[in-house]
Parts: sequence; structure tokens; C-alpha cells
Amino acid sequence: MERTFLMLKPDAIQRGLVGEIISRFEKKGFKLVAMKMIQVDRTLAEEHYKEHRGKAFFEPTVQYIMSSPVVAMVWEGKNIVALAREMMGATNPANANPGSIRGSYGMDISRNVIHGSDSVESAEREIALYFTPQEILAYTKAGEEWLSE
Ligand code: CDP
Ligand code: MG
Repeated sequence: MERTFLMLKPDAIQRGLVGEIISRFEKKGFKLVAMKMIQVDRTLAEEHYKEHRGKAFFEPTVQYIMSSPVVAMVWEGKNIVALAREMMGATNPANANPGSIRGSYGMDISRNVIHGSDSVESAEREIALYFTPQEILAYTKAGEEWLSE
């Protein structure tokens, strides 16, 4: 099954949005297969955002995700990479659809609440940055037979 890496950023934890955001993915039908709360260090933050090295927002973004604990998760589901990005909304909450997560809970690009992988390849890279294979759990979830044919 396709997997993605989602991270609730420091503002999501500080603002008490953890449950609400996780609930959206649960209700969609996606399956949580790994989760941990961590304090991201500089090495990990820079590796996470390395595609943006050299851009003006690189250092502020690295500072942002290091500023307070985050919740790192792996979720599974059909076409989950693209669907989770749709649920998150545009990078800038100011432009994000108001029904999306960023559109519902944010207003400024510097505090956009959640990270989600942008491709299957990025998902696998990011999952490996945050989790060991043993931390990703295989299990049968009740009701899976009601999610697709
Ligand atoms: O997170 P997403 O893939 O939607 O956007 P990105 O273009 O890969 O940028 C990564 C992160 O950098 C964003 O989620 C923002 O936290 C931050 N960023 C920013 O603060 N200002 C920008 N102009 C662009 C990105
Ligand atoms: Mg990105």
C-alpha cells in the first residue's frame, strides 16, 4: 500500500491541533502505521529541507521545525501521497482552500501547521529519515473491507 510521511509542525502541537488533524486522516480512512513525538535537531532539519538549501526561507524554516516538538507519522492508503497533499492545502495557508488543514488552521506561510511528502519518492526518503523499518507496524485495521472493493 502507498505510504506517506506527515509531520505536525511545532505550531500544531503548541496550538492544540494534534487530535483534530490526526482525526481528519483517520476519518478519511487512512491507516496510521507509525507515530512519534520528537524534538528535531539541526542535522535532521537541514536534511529534511535540503532541496530548499540556498533559498531565503531555508534557515527560518529549519529554525521553525526545531523550535518545539513535532509529531512524525507514517500513514498508508490508496493514492495517499496526492490525497494527503489535497487535504493539507496549499503551502501558504493564506491561499489554501478554507476546507483544507492549512486553510482551516493557519494564516501565514511561516506557520503552516503540517508537512506532507510531495511524491512517493520523497515519502520513502522522509520515512527513512524519521523511522527505522522496525518502527513501522504492519497490522489489520478493523473496517478495511469497507474502504474499497
Ligand atoms: O511544505 P510544502 O511542500 O507545501 O512547501 P515547500 O515549498 O516544499 O516548502 C517547505 C516549507 O518551507 C513550507 O511548508 C514552509 O514551512 C516553508 N516555506 C516558507 O516559510 N516560505 C516560503 N516562501 C516557502 C516555504
Ligand atoms: Mg515540499
